[in-house]
Parts: sequence; C-alpha cells; structure tokens
Amino acid sequence: MRLELKDLHVHYGKIEAIKGISVVVNEGEIVTLIGANGAGKTTTLKTISGLRKVSSGQILFDGQDISNVPAHERVDLGISQAPEGRGIFPGMTVLENLEMGKFNRKDRKSEMDEDLDKVYTLFPRLKERATQAGGTLSGGEQQMLAIGRALMARPKVLLLDEPSMGLAPQMIANIFRIITEINKTGVTILLVEQNAQQALQRAHRAYILETGNVVKEAKASDLLNDPAVREAYLGTGAH
Ligand SMILES: Nc1ncnc2c1ncn2[C@@H]1O[C@H](COP(=O)(O)OP(=O)(O)OP(=O)(O)O)[C@@H](O)[C@H]1O
Ligand SMILES: [Mg+2]
Repeated sequence: MRLELKDLHVHYGKIEAIKGISVVVNEGEIVTLIGANGAGKTTTLKTISGLRKVSSGQILFDGQDISNVPAHERVDLGISQAPEGRGIFPGMTVLENLEMGKFNRKDRKSEMDEDLDKVYTLFPRLKERATQAGGTLSGGEQQMLAIGRALMARPKVLLLDEPSMGLAPQMIANIFRIITEINKTGVTILLVEQNAQQALQRAHRAYILETGNVVKEAKASDLLNDPAVREAYLGTGAH
C-alpha cells in the first residue's frame, strides 16, 4: 500500500481550497495532517475517498492513478474513511451501522462475523450497545462506531477526520490509543486532527497545512519539539 497525492488541486466553484499539495503515506505508517480551521484537511480526505473532484494533479494508490475512480470502488481498493462529525445512521442500530460498513464488499457475508468480532474487541462498548440506535449513543461512542464502521470495509488505509472532536480528555486518550492499536494490526492511517499534541505523539510523520498549502513536512517527533510549531499549533511557544 502506498498513497500519494501529487500536486493536488481542489476547488469549490471558483474557490481553490487545495492549492497543489504533495503528500505521501507509506505502508504501515500513521501520517497526520494538522492545520487550523479551513486549512483544507477535510477537503483533502474527501478528495482521497472520492467525495470531491480533483481539479488537477493526481491521487496515486499503489502507483495507479485513482483520481477518476468512483468513491465506492475506492472502498473496494482499500480506502476507507470515518467522516468528520461521525456521519453514522442515527435511526439504525449499532449492529446495523457496522453491517453498512460492509455494503461494498462482495464477500461480505462470510467476513461479517469475523470482522464484527474484531471491531467488538477494539470497542467492547459497541458490543454492549449493539441493539441501541446509533443516534442515542454518546459522542465518544458515536466516534467509536464511525471508526468501527470504516474498519468493516477491511481498509488498507484508514482516513480519520478529527476523531477526537468534542470528546472529553479521557475519551480522547482512549481514541488515540485505539488508533495506535489499529495501526499495529497492519492498517495504514491518515489522521486529520486539530489536537496536534496527541496526533504528533501517535504519528510517524506529519504535514502542516495552511490555507490549502503544505507548509511543512517532517517526522512527527521533530515537530513536537519545533518551537514555531509548538507556538502555532500546540499553544505552548518557546520560553
Ligand atoms: N462545500 C463547500 N463549498 C464551498 N467552500 C467550501 C466547502 N467545503 C469547504 N469549503 C471551504 O474550503 C476550505 C477548506 O475547508 P475544509 O473543510 O477542508 O477545512 P478543514 O481544514 O477541514 O477545517 P476544520 O478544521 O474547520 O474542519 C475552507 O475555506 C472552507 O470554507
Ligand atoms: Mg475539517
């Protein structure tokens, strides 16, 4: 698995939200994309999963240009996104939501129990709540469900958009711990976060996005110690 964005441009009408970014995600990595509100993080993930159109540039998946491949086929290739704001089906039960994650896969029946087991092992809370309506879960539980549903598609690369958003500190720590756990099972992860401290602690490499441009790319541990980055994104400048 190798995901590469090459000089990617994305527009909303005449507005250019992504202005020519180049990003590489290698097999086995956790790569994080950090940046302020409106920097283009969500747009980048949506473009990778095929929900937004590429204006110019390329999205390469294992060397193949998938820029024009429909979204559902990208899921089959192994690209799966847990969307910002969770995007679960509120009227469906937890179990039904998880089953929806298999929607695209032809072999879904034979894999269902095995994959449900894996998700329930990562998130025991979801197993306890299997028959509860998705919309009545707590914020943290809904986040677990969104990630669990994305995992049901057996992704090679998992795209996570702000998994810590709106969660209490203890739940944030829990979600980040689980992200590392998922990565250790062999799933490559592209993680969008405003919680830069936690993201940089978990990621191998990082890109900083500012108004549609990549302004920095580095090892995550180096960025954690970079005074300018600390000042801008971690709220703790050099003394
Ligand atoms: N549907 C849309 N129509 C027009 N402009 C949009 C649309 N969606 C996003 N934008 C604009 O594109 C830019 C990038 O937005 P995006 O959602 O990718 O940012 P983000 O980095 O995810 O921000 P946040 O941290 O607030 O989630 C912003 O200026 C935003 O206003
Ligand atoms: Mg966003």
